[in-house]
Amino acid sequence: MKKIISLLLIATLMLTGIVMVSCADDTKTNENEAVENASDADLNETPEEPEVKKLTVNEGKLTMGTNAQFPPYEYYEDGKIVGIDAEIAAAIAEKLGLELVIEDMEFNSIITAVVSNGVDMGLAGMTVTEERLESVNFSTSYATGIQSVIVVEGNGVESLDDLAGKKIGVQLSTTGDIYASGDYGEDNVIKYNKGADAVLALIGGDVQAVIIDNEPAKSYLAANPDAGLKILDTEYAVEEYAAAINKENTELLNAVNAAIEEMILDGTIDAIVAKYIPAE
Ligand code: ARG
Repeated sequence: MKKIISLLLIATLMLTGIVMVSCADDTKTNENEAVENASDADLNETPEEPEVKKLTVNEGKLTMGTNAQFPPYEYYEDGKIVGIDAEIAAAIAEKLGLELVIEDMEFNSIITAVVSNGVDMGLAGMTVTEERLESVNFSTSYATGIQSVIVVEGNGVESLDDLAGKKIGVQLSTTGDIYASGDYGEDNVIKYNKGADAVLALIGGDVQAVIIDNEPAKSYLAANPDAGLKILDTEYAVEEYAAAINKENTELLNAVNAAIEEMILDGTIDAIVAKYIPAE
């Protein structure tokens, strides 16, 4: 049966070919190019070509994986995930004619979810790193991130040099974790599931510093006004945030890039950021 079908297919293809050739002959010289293009397009529609990959894992939806423990980029307000990333994602989804669905998960699981097509994109104040680029593609960057050091005033950590030999709290698998583990040794780096837990450990004296992204750091300071927390003046690292997308899904990558680039140019991203990070 299979054989018959493929024979039929070949016959059809040959017939189409003949018709196309005769068309081309009829139209003669000047329109030749247009005819060639048209026949290329026709050929693309034959069942032999691979099916066009669908844009998202759930049709009509843009599923975003995030870790909503990261104010002001993503956090809960009245039971809803809000923040800079949530709004940027909503704007991207709207441009793509998709409905945004946000899935909250451990930060550690986001890349895996992107790779296994559990979600379409990871948007989580996520830094572009060489290592992550081995498993996913990153979109055009939409923000700059800074790794900052939070300490308790008077606890003996005044500069990056003072960090050697101290216990440092981080959120598991973040760049703060990766860099600090490299610079100060795994033994000195205590990994928490949430940034807020690392800050609680700092307040409780279990660690002497927390290395975390600057905007969340500022939120944690604001949330604990009486704890004597301060952010060191020296930045530990400067990074770029971008959306992580499955390597196979270049169509979605291109669409997300186009949306982000448009929103950078027309001021949408700046407006969203300004809503959550008031100018100092
Ligand atoms: N920028 C850091 C990183 O990419 C931390 C991101 C943490 N994000 C979050 N939603 N918890 O590793």
